[in-house]
Amino acid sequence: MTMTTALTQDQLKTLVGQAALRYVVPGEILGVGTGSTVNKFIDALAGIKGQIPGAVSSSQASTQRLQALGIPVLDANEVQGISVYVDGADEIDGRGFMVKGGGAALTREKIVAALARRFVCIADVSKRVEVLGRFPLPVEVIPMAAAQLVRRFAALGGAAAVRLADGVPLVTDNGQHILDVRGLAIADPPGFEIEVSQWPGVVTVGVFARQKADVCLLATAAGVQTMEFAA
Ligand code: 5RP
Repeated sequence: MTMTTALTQDQLKTLVGQAALRYVVPGEILGVGTGSTVNKFIDALAGIKGQIPGAVSSSQASTQRLQALGIPVLDANEVQGISVYVDGADEIDGRGFMVKGGGAALTREKIVAALARRFVCIADVSKRVEVLGRFPLPVEVIPMAAAQLVRRFAALGGAAAVRLADGVPLVTDNGQHILDVRGLAIADPPGFEIEVSQWPGVVTVGVFARQKADVCLLATAAGVQTMEFAA
């Protein structure tokens, strides 16, 4: 009799972090995202760090982990482009559109993704959705605009609240705040991203439609599935 043991979410993240190594281009600058799944990817990079001349990172947290491995971290302004950006997601749909920002790094993630020719999303199967919006949508905002943006989201049927850390508004790596918006069903991610990005006070909306995934490595109980998305 064959016994199978269900993998924990942490084990699924380890699996997909290791699977992403095959997308790393030896000798080229690598784009590295943020979050617990990306941390597994960074751990896996230890085995091939000699092949990586440097990385562009989307957060201070990832920068510290990369530097601890001895991988040089470059300022995004120092590079003209990167071949591959590896990052996680809070949600991903069947077209490669994502919600990101659960780790509050969405602005830098979008900037690094925009430098990259290929976005490789690494996620466990819990992140796969049919329609974006189940996960509270992170939006980085200028603090003085927070209240009016809460009202704008309410008009769309969303309930927005300032994200707190230790009882006070969380401050991002960019010195701004995060709104988390519950209750949205984002049927048209490209249109939604364009609209919300234009609201005064919005720094970055956590819908990644223009900077969508090109590939998603999805860790499931049956192994890592590869989803490829058309441009
Ligand atoms: C951080 C992000 C992360 O990619 C997203 O929150 C997924 O994180 P995790 O891998 O920990 O589930 O967007 O801003």
